[in-house]
Amino acid sequence: MTNQPQIAALIADEVLDSRGNPTVEVTVTLNDGTFAQTTVPSGASTGEFEAVELRDGDASRYGGKGVLKAVANVNGEIANALKGLDALDQRRIDDTLIELDGTESKSRLGANAILGASLACARAAAQSQRLALFQYLGGADAHVLPVPMFNVLNGGKHAANGPDVQEFKLVPLGAPTFREAYRYGAETYHALRAVLSEMGVSTNVGDEGGFVPQLDSNIAAMDAIMRAIERAGYRPGEDIAIGLDPAASSFYENGAYHLTRDKLTLATPEMIGYWKSWTDAYPLVSLEDPLADSDWSGFATITKELGDKVQIVGDDLFVTNRKFLKRGIAEGCCNSILIKLNQIGTVTETMDTAQMAFGAGYTCLVSHRSGETSDTSIADLAVALNCGQIKSGAPARGERVAKYNRLLEIEKMLGSDAMFAGQKAFAHPR
Ligand code: PGA
Ligand code: ZN
Repeated sequence: MTNQPQIAALIADEVLDSRGNPTVEVTVTLNDGTFAQTTVPSGASTGEFEAVELRDGDASRYGGKGVLKAVANVNGEIANALKGLDALDQRRIDDTLIELDGTESKSRLGANAILGASLACARAAAQSQRLALFQYLGGADAHVLPVPMFNVLNGGKHAANGPDVQEFKLVPLGAPTFREAYRYGAETYHALRAVLSEMGVSTNVGDEGGFVPQLDSNIAAMDAIMRAIERAGYRPGEDIAIGLDPAASSFYENGAYHLTRDKLTLATPEMIGYWKSWTDAYPLVSLEDPLADSDWSGFATITKELGDKVQIVGDDLFVTNRKFLKRGIAEGCCNSILIKLNQIGTVTETMDTAQMAFGAGYTCLVSHRSGETSDTSIADLAVALNCGQIKSGAPARGERVAKYNRLLEIEKMLGSDAMFAGQKAFAHPR
């Protein structure tokens, strides 16, 4: 008889995410009676090489977006393969899932089915050991509270009629604690609403809770944010810096960048010059996907030119996949990587990717997806990795604040052991 808890059952269901689209929920039961649940997020501006989200394609249900096949894969093949495995052996669980699927892109069983199973097992294992998820995944040293990046102004694929740039984020790196950083962010979010109202533009919100004003240029959004930071009583750059995710693949076509709001069409060197002028003029600390995910040589150039001033983050470029990160490290592309569990599909591979990044001196930014649920696992993942950075949208809307609220809870649990990453999270070692 072993004392190790074993996986007893997995049950999946089709539920809805924050955009009203179906997603996979998985409940795992262990033989010691523990059970835990997770739900899987879903992106809109997805990278070309992300692990495949399995959708039914049956136009008569949810416009083809149903996930009954993925649910059936969990209830059938996946449950059979995992039953009886040691619940504390996450690497073995994830290897079993990868082998069972048998494809590089996880397209047979679906990355949504596989991640649901992987993450639910991790959650159940933590619970059976009476540990918080961040403690179970990160061990005794997990103690760094990440700097939150609040996406307060939405554009691109997350907001019709918004700016071309997908995400304008407040980065309250000057706060002394996570709790204070949260307050800085929320107060500035409300100040931004007032600034935009005075400008006579819309304060309706996009998929991640940020405002979607109809502005004449992308840079007008930066100016509104600068004003909001000051109106809320903070010093731009010192208390609150700015992060951007242009998600440039979404406006790249036929070898050029098309900025509709600015009425500009730019080649790669001009696009880099555009970001350089923003970096010179604003307190930018993080620039994610400033170029398209096929533009590897452009990424090498921008990292060389701006990487000592601003963190260059690869999201669509790396898709949380070691294969692409390895190429990026070799070619000098980026000095930071976005970490999204469902881009790669298992907990173990996600953590392996983060470790590879740390080994090369890259920072890691743990991320939600634009389609989310109230699942808070990424908050724990960020603390487990001690990576010091997270983005989970605006400090508003239930599925976004669930993660930030979980971080408040973790900060309380850690007490005097908690360390807020602050400015140090944005050191640029490369
Ligand atoms: P997505 O957007 O979840 O729609 O992919 C988030 C991001 O691009 O970082
Ligand atoms: Zn991104």
